[in-house]
Amino acid sequence: MTQPFHTQNQSLKAFNTFGFDVVAHQYLPIESPEDLTALFQKHAFEKQPFGILGGGSNITFTQDFSGLLLHNRIQGHTIIEENSDHVIVEFGGGENWHETVLYTLEKGWGGLENLSLIPGTVGASPIQNIGAYGVEIKDTFHALTAFHIPTGTFHTLYHSDCAFGYRDSVFKSEKKGQYFITAVQFKLSKQPVIKTQYGDIQATLDGWGISEPSIRDISNAVIHIRQSKLPNPAEIGNCGSFFKNPVVDSQIIPALTVQYPDIKTFPAGEGLTKVPAGWLIEKAGWKGFKRNQIGVHAKQALVLVNYGGGTGAEIIALAKEIQADIFQKFGIELEMEVNAW
Ligand code: EPU
Repeated sequence: MTQPFHTQNQSLKAFNTFGFDVVAHQYLPIESPEDLTALFQKHAFEKQPFGILGGGSNITFTQDFSGLLLHNRIQGHTIIEENSDHVIVEFGGGENWHETVLYTLEKGWGGLENLSLIPGTVGASPIQNIGAYGVEIKDTFHALTAFHIPTGTFHTLYHSDCAFGYRDSVFKSEKKGQYFITAVQFKLSKQPVIKTQYGDIQATLDGWGISEPSIRDISNAVIHIRQSKLPNPAEIGNCGSFFKNPVVDSQIIPALTVQYPDIKTFPAGEGLTKVPAGWLIEKAGWKGFKRNQIGVHAKQALVLVNYGGGTGAEIIALAKEIQADIFQKFGIELEMEVNAW
C-alpha cells in the first residue's frame, strides 16, 4: 500500500485539458484501492467536501477547488478470462485511455479501435459512456470495480447495473458522487468485427486505398479524422464536445426544414430525431467566435476552446449565451456535456 500524501494548494493547470489555472486546496493522488480504504478509516470523506479527478478532459473548473481532490492514478492491467474467441481484460481506473486502446491493438484485441485518441482515463470512461465514430464504451464494457464511498466497501457493477445511455450512466444520475471507479473490465474480440459505418471512416480508408481494414487501420483512420477536426488539448485547451447532440421530437423538424433546408438530422428512435449541435451552433454564426482568450473552435463548432489565459467562468458564460441563442433561433435546448465545478 502506498502512503497517501496530501499536497496543499496544488495547481491543477496540468491536470485539466482546458488548462485552467486553478488550485485544489488539498490534493491527493490515489495510487491503489487500499489508499481509499485508508482514507475511509481516517474519516476523510466526512471531514470535508471531496471530488474525484480523472484525466480532467470533461471538466470546466470555474474556481479553486476548496475541498479534497482525489486524483485517480491507479495503473495496471490483468487478464480475467481468455479463450480463442475473446478476452476479458481489466485496466486500472487511472490508466490513460488512448494508451489503453493502443495496448489492446498491439495484442490484436478488437472493440476499442473506434475510440482511439479520446482524452481521459479508463476510470472515467463508463461515467459518460464515452463514444465516437459509431461505437460506445457500453459495446465492450463487461464490469467495473468501484469504491463505494458511503460504506467504504468495494462493489462490482455489471453492464445491467450501469444504465448506459448516450453520454450517460447511473454514475451521472442516481449514483452520482457515490463511487470511485478503481478498475474497468472490457470484453474484447479476437475475431474483430470492423465498424466503418460512420461515414468519415469509410471515406478515409477509401482515400488510403484500404479495402480490407484491420483494427489498426480503423484506429489510424479515427486518429486522422480527430486530428483534422478536433483541437489537440496540448496546443489549444478544450474538453472535446462541450454540448450533447440534442434529441428532439421529430414533429418539429418539417418546420425547421422549411426555414433551414440544409439542416442535418439523424433518426434517434421512435418519433425522435438527433440534430447535430455542431451544425446548430455553426448555423447560428458562432463557429470561430473569439472573445478575449476563449472561443468556439474554427473547425468544430461543438468544441469550446481556451487559447491560454482564459477562465472557466468565461467558458460557462459563453456556453450559456450559445444555449440561449440556439433556443431563440431553433427552439432547441442544448445540454452541456462537460461538467462545471
Ligand atoms: N457539423 C457542422 N458544423 C460543425 C460541426 C459538425 O455542421 O461545426 C455537422 C457535421 O457536418 C456532421 C454532424 O454535424 O454532419 C456531426 O458532426 P461530427 O461527425 O463531427 O460529430 P459530432 O456530432 O459533432 C459527435 C461526438 C464526438 C465524436 C463524434 C464522432 C457528441 C456530443 N460528440 O460529435 O465526441 O468524436 O461525434 O463520433 O456526441 C466528445 O464527446 O467530446 C466528442 C468529441
